[in-house]
Amino acid sequence: MLNFKINEELCIRCGKCITDCPPMCISMQEGDFPVIQDENNCMLCQHCLAVCPTGAISIMGADPADSIELQYELPTAHSMETLIKGRRSIRKYKKNALDEKIITRLLETAFHAPTGVNAQGVLFTATTTAEATEKLRKEIYAKVGKLLENCDYDKDDLRFQYMNMAYKAYTNHNVDVILRGAPHILIASAPKTIPLPKEDCIIALSTFDLFAQTMGVGTLWNGMLKWCVDDFFPELATRLGVPEDHEIGYCMVFGSPAVQYKRTVQRKPGALNFVNSF
Ligand SMILES: Cc1cc2nc3c(=O)[nH]c(=O)nc-3n(C[C@H](O)[C@H](O)[C@H](O)COP(=O)(O)O)c2cc1C
Repeated sequence: MLNFKINEELCIRCGKCITDCPPMCISMQEGDFPVIQDENNCMLCQHCLAVCPTGAISIMGADPADSIELQYELPTAHSMETLIKGRRSIRKYKKNALDEKIITRLLETAFHAPTGVNAQGVLFTATTTAEATEKLRKEIYAKVGKLLENCDYDKDDLRFQYMNMAYKAYTNHNVDVILRGAPHILIASAPKTIPLPKEDCIIALSTFDLFAQTMGVGTLWNGMLKWCVDDFFPELATRLGVPEDHEIGYCMVFGSPAVQYKRTVQRKPGALNFVNSF
């Protein structure tokens, strides 16, 4: 039950909810107000609530008064550009964990990233204490040690070459190349049955990545952690609470950065393929 409600005192019958509805399931009743005829077609995107100029639409119990008004709240193009260009991979972290409220705010916001067919199926699995992450770190290296000891792998496989290097750095120099000493890990997973589990996870993580910078939180996309929890030791993902029927989209680590960057790097021009006529 969608609970699609029109506040008849506010509705100006402009029809914007009708024309913006992606599955076109809203219509105007003759001399009346907008209605959803076939609720099964609704993709729960809430565009009707978002587009209504007078805040007359409520759906699924959502009150438009609880939404953020967009007119004055958006960052400027310049600040977004600086954020995108100024984001860096952080490989040095302070040991202390972040306040759980910050983690919750970051992840709850990242959950607003778009998902294929509005599936909203992404699960964020994060360690919230430095102790939990430290235990995981120790277990990862113990397992990597055993994996390498067995020597039962293809020496040309890049993953093992990296693991070998990381294991040596950890055991000989106490340098953590896999988790980079971060106090938190993050795994994005989604049910294999939704239309685009991998894409949804990566977009959600990208959103988290950018938003994190604005709250002074450093991040690192982490392929080595992905190999560990997805390829080599999937039992770790299970123990962390990633459901068996989920695909792991990607992994990151995050925390308070122990390094500050003063300026953007200078990339070569992007590869652009402009098509002016076809
Ligand atoms: C999918 C992906 C996986 C990555 N995996 C790792 C990793 O396992 N370890 C690491 O130190 N950096 C990793 N990185 C970080 C890249 O090396 C980094 O983004 C790149 O060098 C550019 O630096 P910047 O992010 O500071 O601009 C990864 C980045 C991406 C996008």
